[in-house]
Amino acid sequence: MSILVITNRKGGAGKTTVSVNLAAEFAAKGQRVLLVDLDSQGHCAVGLGVKIEAGQATAHDIFTQPNMHILDAVQQTTIPNLSLLPANPAFQHHSSGHDEKCLARALSHESIALQFDLVIIDTPPSLDNLLLNALSAAHWVLVPYVPHPLSFEGVRQLVRLLFKVISKINRSLKILGFLLVMTANNIRQHKQITEQVTKQFGALRVLTGIRTDIKLAEAFAANKPVRFYAPKSRGAEDFAELAEMLSSLIKK
Ligand SMILES: Nc1ncnc2c1ncn2[C@@H]1O[C@H](COP(=O)(O)OP(=O)(O)OP(=O)(O)O)[C@@H](O)[C@H]1O
Ligand SMILES: [Mg+2]
Repeated sequence: MSILVITNRKGGAGKTTVSVNLAAEFAAKGQRVLLVDLDSQGHCAVGLGVKIEAGQATAHDIFTQPNMHILDAVQQTTIPNLSLLPANPAFQHHSSGHDEKCLARALSHESIALQFDLVIIDTPPSLDNLLLNALSAAHWVLVPYVPHPLSFEGVRQLVRLLFKVISKINRSLKILGFLLVMTANNIRQHKQITEQVTKQFGALRVLTGIRTDIKLAEAFAANKPVRFYAPKSRGAEDFAELAEMLSSLIKK
């Protein structure tokens, strides 16, 4: 079982769009996928059309109920092979405590490895204990970023944290890549920021981006991954290609 975390502390950087659509692509390839929503905004459930009942078990219970079994909170979605560990919309992010291994412990239960091939973790836009938990549990980290002048500095700060986590908490964590989202190749600023990221982190780590496509936003509002909402759209094409490329990287 591989664990992939999608993160960028910047809000609106495409984390949830990437998490939901990649999860759907890998599920369509036959992988049994568990999407974990650590962001109390609860957007993964929205993007997948999953209803969360008041009082039901959630991903955030891991931080308040150490003996909870994660499978009690897992919900099937209507998409074959895709399950969701939903967020608790009432969870206060500062109440996740100081133990950065809660999620790693919860995911290390052998029943999880038996039931899932891939775990994808969507994170909140913050550098806090929730993010440390995601990074401590993961094998891979994927960083979506937007073509905005401040974006590069945010990515740099995040990479500093990643190196700290790799050296002190989780030696098996590897950077899968940086993914420019909402791109248009002909805009100079987009090229500049990708050049900055390439120069700093190496061309191998810079993945082919996800183009701007209103269908991705519409799909989200329609509570569906784009491959079901608009299968012929640019967004669907880009996510299919991304999943294909990441599959081979994750296998290596
Ligand atoms: N490639 C794209 N083309 C067009 N719209 C996009 C694209 N990617 C994301 N969006 C839209 O941009 C907005 C922000 O995306 P998203 O919610 O995925 O970001 P996020 O990083 O998860 O945000 P937050 O930090 O609040 O969790 C959403 O309205 C989404 O539909
Ligand atoms: Mg989000």
